[in-house]
Amino acid sequence: MNTQSNHGAAHVQACALMVIFAITICEKIPDAHVTCNFSMDCVLPCQFKPADVEAIQWYRQNALIHSFLNGSEMLDQQNERYRGRTSLFREEFTQGNASLLLKHSDIHDRGRYKCHVRTALGDQESVVITKVEAPIRSLTLHMTGPGRYEEVMCSSQNIYPAPQLWWSTDPVVPADALKPTTRKTANEQGLYSVESTQRRLGNLSDFTYICNLNLSYGSQMWKASLREREIYTVSGKTLTIPCLTPRTFKLHNFSLTWTFTKANKTTVILMFDSLSHQTSNLWENQARVDPDQVLSGNGSLQLQNLESSAQTGTYSCAFSASNIQHLVHNHISFTAAATGGHQSNLWIIAVVIAALVLFIAGIAVYTSRKESHPQPGRTEAEGTIEIHNVRKETGENTTRDNEVL
Ligand SMILES: *[C@@H]1O[C@H](CO)[C@@H](O)[C@H](O)[C@H]1NC(C)=O
Ligand SMILES: *[C@@H]1O[C@H](CO)[C@@H](O)[C@H](O)[C@H]1NC(C)=O
Ligand SMILES: *[C@@H]1O[C@H](CO)[C@@H](O)[C@H](O)[C@H]1NC(C)=O
Ligand SMILES: *[C@@H]1O[C@H](CO)[C@@H](O)[C@H](O)[C@H]1NC(C)=O
Ligand SMILES: *[C@@H]1O[C@H](CO)[C@@H](O)[C@H](O)[C@H]1NC(C)=O
Ligand SMILES: *[C@@H]1O[C@H](CO)[C@@H](O)[C@H](O)[C@H]1NC(C)=O
Ligand SMILES: *[C@@H]1O[C@H](CO)[C@@H](O)[C@H](O)[C@H]1NC(C)=O
Ligand SMILES: *[C@@H]1O[C@H](CO)[C@@H](O)[C@H](O)[C@H]1NC(C)=O
Repeated sequence: MNTQSNHGAAHVQACALMVIFAITICEKIPDAHVTCNFSMDCVLPCQFKPADVEAIQWYRQNALIHSFLNGSEMLDQQNERYRGRTSLFREEFTQGNASLLLKHSDIHDRGRYKCHVRTALGDQESVVITKVEAPIRSLTLHMTGPGRYEEVMCSSQNIYPAPQLWWSTDPVVPADALKPTTRKTANEQGLYSVESTQRRLGNLSDFTYICNLNLSYGSQMWKASLREREIYTVSGKTLTIPCLTPRTFKLHNFSLTWTFTKANKTTVILMFDSLSHQTSNLWENQARVDPDQVLSGNGSLQLQNLESSAQTGTYSCAFSASNIQHLVHNHISFTAAATGGHQSNLWIIAVVIAALVLFIAGIAVYTSRKESHPQPGRTEAEGTIEIHNVRKETGENTTRDNEVL
């Protein structure tokens, strides 16, 4: 603020001197504001009343960074940091455009720049306030810690200026219930990495953890949320696996992806795109989502005829938009009570078969005893019983797996 008004006063003085040349160029030129992307090229704007250019000088905080005089670049006085990184657009001079191209910007390029132009109409000066930003490009949130699910960790890298990170939960808890440990570190280029760890609250399935990350200039706001949930179910039923985005999430232009993970192998179940309203479903006969519900943030998956052996695993739901992500891992197990019915049937069958085999073996032993070979015959018979039993059970399992697939 202060610098701006000082500059204003200086400008009025300059105008008084220039009145002799031309009154029109004395209009107050407002400061321009530019945000450069870290490591990218950046154009610092400068406009003047079109006339033959005698000289253009660019300064950053009083250091000369580019100079053009009498038709050629004069770069011997140029500040070292800018060597080879600056140029003007000569073809634009006739349009009154003296903008400077600054290549490969870095965080030391932020500051106050001055563009000084001399033409036949007189001198003109304008100011460009330049910021440099390394935008947030990703946000990672996952469960970690000694028991694998003890802590929630949120991290992001290569950001400038230093970002602000804060946690929230759904359902909401008092702010003092959250005691995250947050570390920000800068690398040799001045870019920040941030890593924050929050202890899990309550039981695993109780909360959605939300990690929020703001760029200090307020130009970017990222959110990632994570929920782990344990679900116990029974075979053969229809199950609705919930996946609701936190109420504070406003999602536009997003995709929803459901995946299934078993023994480290992940397969896609279905994908939904909010722009086209298209669902591509790879488990067509078993899985579905309600597109209207999905558009309002309810991505719940309905699954039919779940079978314990093949479908025990993690069902993950991911809502992804450009800077918002919501992830739910549903760990589905089948309760003993559910499969119990099935298993006890198998067990009864096995016992019946075993009894039958024993009975037959008994007869065989009895017969062989009559032929006076008591001991070897008996061991053989017992061995056969076990083999029969094992064969029977594995046989049953194989057919069940096949039915599911
Ligand atoms: C900077 O990069 C972001 C994304 O990478 C882009 O959206 C934005 O337009 C870029 N800004 C400039 C000034 O190039
Ligand atoms: C630029 O050219 C003008 C007129 O042609 C001349 O008066 C002036 O001295 C020159 N300036 C420099 C620095 O060469
Ligand atoms: C000045 O020229 C540069 C380079 O062509 C261009 O990016 C910029 O938009 C121009 N400025 C104006 C105000 O036309
Ligand atoms: C966690 O779950 C167990 C068993 O379901 C329950 O007894 C306990 O009260 C729960 N703890 C909390 C903090 O909710
Ligand atoms: C983060 O940014 C958003 C929008 O840019 C703003 O409304 C919010 O107040 C910011 N929060 C913090 C803690 O800076
Ligand atoms: C929607 O997002 C996709 C990818 O994130 C992007 O390619 C596309 O341009 C976006 N469309 C609109 C209308 O924002
Ligand atoms: C899954 O992968 C992790 C590490 O990559 C390994 O420790 C674990 O044993 C694997 N689990 C299974 C069931 O393959
Ligand atoms: C979410 O959608 C499912 C159907 O896909 C529905 O059964 C469930 O009630 C919905 N939940 C909420 C909270 O709206």
